[in-house]
Amino acid sequence: MAALSSHAEWRALKEHFLAVKDLELRDLFDADPQRGTALTAEGAGFYLDYSKNRVTRETLSLLCDLARARGLLARRDAMFQGARINVTEGRPVLHVALRAPSTVAIKVDGHDVVPDVHAVLGQMSAFADKVRQGTWTGYSGKRIRTVINIGIGGSYLGPEMAVRALRPFADPAIAVRFVANVDGEALRAATADLDPAETLFIVCSKTFTTEETMTNARSAREWCVAGLGHDAAVAAHFVAVSTHTAEVARFGIDPAHMFVFWDWVGGRYSLGSAVGLSLMIAIGPERFREMLAGFRDMDEHFMTAPLERNLPVLMGMLAVWYNNFHGLETQAVLPYAHGLARLPAYLEQLQMESNGKHVDLAGRPVTYQTGPIVWGEPGVDAQHSFYQLLHQGTKIVPCDLVGFCRSHADLPGHQDFLMANLLAQAEALAFGRSAAQLAEEGVPAAQIPYRVCEGNRPTTIILGEALTPRALGALIALYEHSVFTQGVVWGIDSFDQWGVELGKVLARRIMSEIQGGVRGGAHDSSTRALIGRYLAHRGLSG
Ligand code: F6P
Repeated sequence: MAALSSHAEWRALKEHFLAVKDLELRDLFDADPQRGTALTAEGAGFYLDYSKNRVTRETLSLLCDLARARGLLARRDAMFQGARINVTEGRPVLHVALRAPSTVAIKVDGHDVVPDVHAVLGQMSAFADKVRQGTWTGYSGKRIRTVINIGIGGSYLGPEMAVRALRPFADPAIAVRFVANVDGEALRAATADLDPAETLFIVCSKTFTTEETMTNARSAREWCVAGLGHDAAVAAHFVAVSTHTAEVARFGIDPAHMFVFWDWVGGRYSLGSAVGLSLMIAIGPERFREMLAGFRDMDEHFMTAPLERNLPVLMGMLAVWYNNFHGLETQAVLPYAHGLARLPAYLEQLQMESNGKHVDLAGRPVTYQTGPIVWGEPGVDAQHSFYQLLHQGTKIVPCDLVGFCRSHADLPGHQDFLMANLLAQAEALAFGRSAAQLAEEGVPAAQIPYRVCEGNRPTTIILGEALTPRALGALIALYEHSVFTQGVVWGIDSFDQWGVELGKVLARRIMSEIQGGVRGGAHDSSTRALIGRYLAHRGLSG
């Protein structure tokens, strides 16, 4: 693949940027009365309003030209066909197979993986039903009241986010909790009020070697065995989700109580796999399958909609526009839905672990910016904390505002007020309040400079009907394919994560030094001094 900057389409966008960079949203809307309905697209149950972005129709068409020139269509097809597009790990990238209907065949080395996917879904469904119906009992014959998922990163953020989002659909008789942090306080707090006889642990780890997860799982096993008085209790209270049967057996979980997935599913793309078992127990197999149908709706939209009306492509290319042409370093995700409180955390991993890369597919250092910093909080709460910077700060932050027309909580006025806020914020960010308007409103002259909101701050509105399992699936797939689109344009491997390995190696070394009371290991002077101080505080060295 040619270097990004050598594409005529890239150069055309650079030139176009110079022509449009100072355009004001206010003027763009005044000049084009249709803009608010024209710069929109629909798919998989979502309405995308991107009219309040700093683009013209020409910008969009040039961005789509760039996507085409970078081979987005061929790469998208390659992903769906099981090609090894994760080049640095030599793996196919097939989270899309997790939601493929059984009528579709997707082959990896000549083997159709779709029947495997459906077999595991069947195994998960049977198990989830047993837990939900109380026929899977603990060691002492009691039914399970609490499920604790022990896992981190992709083995945690997706299920945790989705369990919260779909709480209105969950069985209130079974609580689902999550333990990710190796800080002992996480496990202690999660188990403090529980009876081990009624608690089921799902040890969830693709590799089954992640130290945080294994440490938590070992301590959970001790808590369970101590509470129930016998090692044999483990069989009834622990199941595993992993790609590594041997590691699961080594840990002491019966492989018969293991739910597999495959190395062609990336951790951060794995919610639709057995990693979603805790979610399936919460909402039931039928609702879980509805969520998979929602993922599939967006997959089909991504595969078939023309680029100019393709939601993930539009969102991905807008991200490229701000990142590479406007030079904006961050993007915010602001869900106006209480259930989506953890969507920003989920998207931080999805986007930054995928596209935070410094070399291209050929291993050459990139000469342009790759993945932006993604962050956020639920919208209305955040209005009362950091929105000040969004409105009047010196940095421009493009924002995604995610909202729904209907809420599951039928409290008079709440949803209208929530959505009024979403719409008002987008309007305020785009159009602001000028000095002249403030003067007209009678604001004292001395106050005007402080109260001016210059506007021209971009937002994209993602509007759905209600936060159902199907809508959640489609929303996640929307972001997955947007991330994919960006990665293709930047020519990077969006599916590896080598950057996180170094810290793990160093932590293992420091851990053995700490536990051996070793001062003065081969470190820089700061790390050495900190280890010494830690050892002294812990009384671990002489
Ligand atoms: O360290 C990063 C990472 O490898 C993520 O990519 C992954 O989601 C997480 O750790 C957990 O990994 P595992 O599921 O193998 O425990």
